[in-house]
Amino acid sequence: MSTQPMIEVDHLTKYYGDFPAISDVTFNVAKGEVLGFLGPNAAGKTTTMRVITGFLPPSQGTVRVAGYDVVADSLEVRRLVGYMPETVPLYTDMTVKDYLAFMGTIRGMSRKAIERRKSEVTEVCHLEQYYGSLIGKLSKGFRQRVGIAQAILHEPEVLVLDEPTIGIDPIQVVETRQLIKSLGGQHTVIVSTHILPEVSMICERVIIIHEGEIVTVDKPENLAARLEATEHINMEVRGPTAAVVNVLRSVPGVQDVSFSPQADLKARYALVGRRGEDLREALAKAVVEHGWGLVELAAVSMTLEQIFLRLTTAEEA
Ligand SMILES: Nc1ncnc2c1ncn2[C@@H]1O[C@H](COP(=O)(O)OP(=O)(O)OP(=O)(O)O)[C@@H](O)[C@H]1O
Ligand SMILES: [Mg+2]
Repeated sequence: MSTQPMIEVDHLTKYYGDFPAISDVTFNVAKGEVLGFLGPNAAGKTTTMRVITGFLPPSQGTVRVAGYDVVADSLEVRRLVGYMPETVPLYTDMTVKDYLAFMGTIRGMSRKAIERRKSEVTEVCHLEQYYGSLIGKLSKGFRQRVGIAQAILHEPEVLVLDEPTIGIDPIQVVETRQLIKSLGGQHTVIVSTHILPEVSMICERVIIIHEGEIVTVDKPENLAARLEATEHINMEVRGPTAAVVNVLRSVPGVQDVSFSPQADLKARYALVGRRGEDLREALAKAVVEHGWGLVELAAVSMTLEQIFLRLTTAEEA
């Protein structure tokens, strides 16, 4: 058994003119793995995917798929890779059935293989009821599924899906995520998104990319744990705001306090403290000792979105 990674991205840099959209990006994807590609707008996700799928040549570095170089062996790579681009070029005046047949033909599939795969992918992507419908009449979510269906049509070993859940309703998002997850194992999958919870749901490993560089690579569950370096506490206190802030700031372990005034001399305070120290008792004591009213005190766990922001802005801190 070979343990060669299915995808090897090695010191990849891609320039548009003078602008490096991605710089010195290196990572591997194991066979059967579902890898999440997470980053804000303009991070370089689509650019990286286009190089991996052979649609754009690297400026520097190499990319191999199953050992094939994306430039030198581009035909092999295209055979091995199914790609769902950010905007799927769907033909709105074709039926789903005809579109799939058309995509099979331009990929050089035999007529027999097309017949078999057309119905298989229709089933996998739950498109049965729209098989004979014009693509132009499908809702966005079902068009996304047609995009996935065409990507898996030629039975590629690798699937590259660029923001497959963008712009679809929450129910279809759930179904599409399940579909992608179910494609792992048999396929090696790279899926991009800028939604952090999404990668925790579908991916085994996440690469966070920001401004063209890899910020971190980890399992989704480790990411959350690793990043919770601070503890967040919300309080509501009745008392003179400036004095309350001073006292809260003086509690050992408190790193930052911000507040927003409420009615009746009350204010809400958001505190940031060091990880691993439960500051709640000390905070409660400090407030009560000054004779102020402690209306509320609660630890808040950081949302995944906050974790993401922290990661991608960590360099500036
Ligand atoms: N064809 C192009 N010509 C010039 N610059 C480009 C081109 N395509 C992308 N860029 C630039 O490269 C950078 C990376 O873009 P890319 O589309 O890869 O980001 P992305 O992570 O996919 O973003 P999004 O989440 O918005 O899809 C951006 O600054 C973008 O403006
Ligand atoms: Mg993109």
